[in-house]
Amino acid sequence: MTIQISKRAKTIKPSPTLTVSALAKQMKAEGIDVINFGVGEPDFNTPEYIKDEAKKAIDENFTRYTNTSGIIELRKAISNKLKRDNDLDCNPNDILVSPGAKASIVFVLMTVCDSLDEVLIPSPYWVSYTSQVEMVDALPVLLPTNMSSNFKITAKQLEEAILSLNRPKVLILNSPNNPTGSVYGKKELEEIAQVCLKYNILVISDEIYEKLIYDGVKHVSIASLSPEIREQTILINGVSKAYAMTGWRLGYAAGPTDIIKNASRIQSHTTSCVNSITQKAAVVALDKCEESIFIMREEFQKRRNFLVEELRNIPNVKCNMPQGAFYAMPNVPYYLHNNKKGITNSIEFCEFLLKKYKIAIVPGSAFGADEFVRFSYATDMKSIKEGLKRFKEGLLESISHGL
Ligand SMILES: Cc1ncc(COP(=O)(O)O)c(C=O)c1O
Repeated sequence: MTIQISKRAKTIKPSPTLTVSALAKQMKAEGIDVINFGVGEPDFNTPEYIKDEAKKAIDENFTRYTNTSGIIELRKAISNKLKRDNDLDCNPNDILVSPGAKASIVFVLMTVCDSLDEVLIPSPYWVSYTSQVEMVDALPVLLPTNMSSNFKITAKQLEEAILSLNRPKVLILNSPNNPTGSVYGKKELEEIAQVCLKYNILVISDEIYEKLIYDGVKHVSIASLSPEIREQTILINGVSKAYAMTGWRLGYAAGPTDIIKNASRIQSHTTSCVNSITQKAAVVALDKCEESIFIMREEFQKRRNFLVEELRNIPNVKCNMPQGAFYAMPNVPYYLHNNKKGITNSIEFCEFLLKKYKIAIVPGSAFGADEFVRFSYATDMKSIKEGLKRFKEGLLESISHGL
């Protein structure tokens, strides 16, 4: 007998970024010299004193289930962080700690969305948002942006989209943004907040790249703009990117009591709580780790400057300067439409570059932007230089008539 797979499971596509990364890792394991620009995690190690705290937690047998929403000292550390960095007063009881920001977003969507509710997502978008929305039987509605608006939506565009929908419920805002690196300024956020308040739209504000922001640009959380919008925002953040702790799995959601309480109930029946050891380590990360962030940010800024400048020097490649995260998204339509290899889209283009030039970059179609590709610069400078050399050679070969 064959068991039917659910319609829900069938609609979920594998994460293209994880797929590219896995393929690159596999090629590397086979001894192939691949340069991986697909990675979505810092190439730095978790700072020593965070690791020490985890070792201490094990030695002290802090190895049992904790309460669902997270140990109180961690929720207090998050509350202090929100006050310190984001000027937000948040009661520790209005915080839910989950196994990664990814899980936080899913639990919040499960809490607020009914079947066929509409969730607005600026595009290009992080690959998981659309699948997460589909997983809860809601409908993703993409809001297209372009290079000239630096990939940001406007309040007017948001309002028009809302007016054209049947059941608009949530806006997922991601600043600093993956994949574009765009960062929304205070005024832009104020205008967006006005629209969300006017039409009673919940904002899920994914601020996971908050600490990776360059050129002195300041991160603003939409939740901090007024008491009214704070009551209509779920702030999402975590330790993965800022503290190089992707494998530890810890993210959090902070927002209105009712939503957090209900999301916590869902978590209690799924993942129970976050790994107890990780929770102890995260307290130290949030309380003490500014210096490691500074070092990482300086290095990322250097790499970003080099990468973007080199990309811009390639004929027929355009690239905006990303202000945050660790990604750059060059625009490559010329090579998609004028190549002599029969390539017609960004997936085939990236396959060609991976197979022939041994560089792994993510096709823009993964983010709803087929005329782009995404480079992660969470890889060392030597690899970036070599990878760019191969990228240029690959582009030139693609439009040449040779074999
Ligand atoms: C925009 C965005 N949000 C959330 C996450 C998930 O982070 P976590 O490791 O905390 O699940 C990622 C990871 O790549 C991301 O890029």
